[in-house]
Amino acid sequence: MRTLDWVDDRIVALDQTRLPHDVVLLDLRTVDELIDAIRTLAVRGAPALGVAGALGVALAARTTDDVPAAAARLRAARPTAVNLAWGVDQVLQHRGADAMLAAALRIRDDDIASSRALGARGAEWLLERVDGPLNIHTHCNAGALACVEWGTALGVVRALHERDALGHVYADETRPLLQGARLTVWELAEMGAAHTLVADSAGPSVIANGLVHAVVVGADRIAANGDVVNKVGTYPLALAAHRAGIPFVVAAPESTVDMATATGADVPIEVRADAEVTAFAGVRVAPEGTRALNYAFDVTPRDLVSAIVTEARVF
Ligand code: MRU
Repeated sequence: MRTLDWVDDRIVALDQTRLPHDVVLLDLRTVDELIDAIRTLAVRGAPALGVAGALGVALAARTTDDVPAAAARLRAARPTAVNLAWGVDQVLQHRGADAMLAAALRIRDDDIASSRALGARGAEWLLERVDGPLNIHTHCNAGALACVEWGTALGVVRALHERDALGHVYADETRPLLQGARLTVWELAEMGAAHTLVADSAGPSVIANGLVHAVVVGADRIAANGDVVNKVGTYPLALAAHRAGIPFVVAAPESTVDMATATGADVPIEVRADAEVTAFAGVRVAPEGTRALNYAFDVTPRDLVSAIVTEARVF
């Protein structure tokens, strides 16, 4: 099953807010419906957001008179993953609804090919340095659910698994929206990979205790200098990996590399609603009136990154 796709005249997407308990497909027939799905994280993950942006412009060309205005709103639905704006801009370069749809479908197909290619490249990079089977630590969800299929960091994990070179995967739960506990663990179980869920705050200890050979994560944006922006909680893993002397590998498509943004400090970091932290599953846990600083992403400085693996290169 694809995470999102174009079917007839609409976007069909797996509702990731309902996983792992319910597998529900959303029919997104307007740009506003798509924007709502992106804001609520029903559709999420940088490469998937790129495809959503591209398909969204194709949808706008069929459903609105003012495509540039709809595209601008779509571009602004979430600020950090550069793929969203990239996907929108790619399709906006074309004229006419049919050409726009064809361009968006190419971006969808390219995403599938990129995930496979970078997954294989990342697995080979690791196996050249560490004898398998490899134990991997990952954060958030950089799997098939964050792309159209296959995944980036979990694409590397899948490629290791295919080569019988995967040991055990440690997945961070990923506070506050639990993409690791809900989505990554679901994908690991589906692929038959041995795995264990850990609280985010335990991640650095898993690394310090020698339980993993490498950390592999995705990225929402890679700045021109190589700083990596990914789900909040990635930076502590990079610090721990550095201290432990194990590889910290970032797996992402070229569309995540943003040469127009100089450093991680220049990337807009999404700050989400206090209630995602002060409440749990809709039930308030912090005293009424508590404010939360809910950074959705953090910056890992480039000197903590061993390798960035894309479909085209390792750097
Ligand atoms: O807030 P999300 O769930 O969209 O954040 C997703 C991540 O941070 C992923 O690690 C990143 O997009 C890479 S996905 C291949």
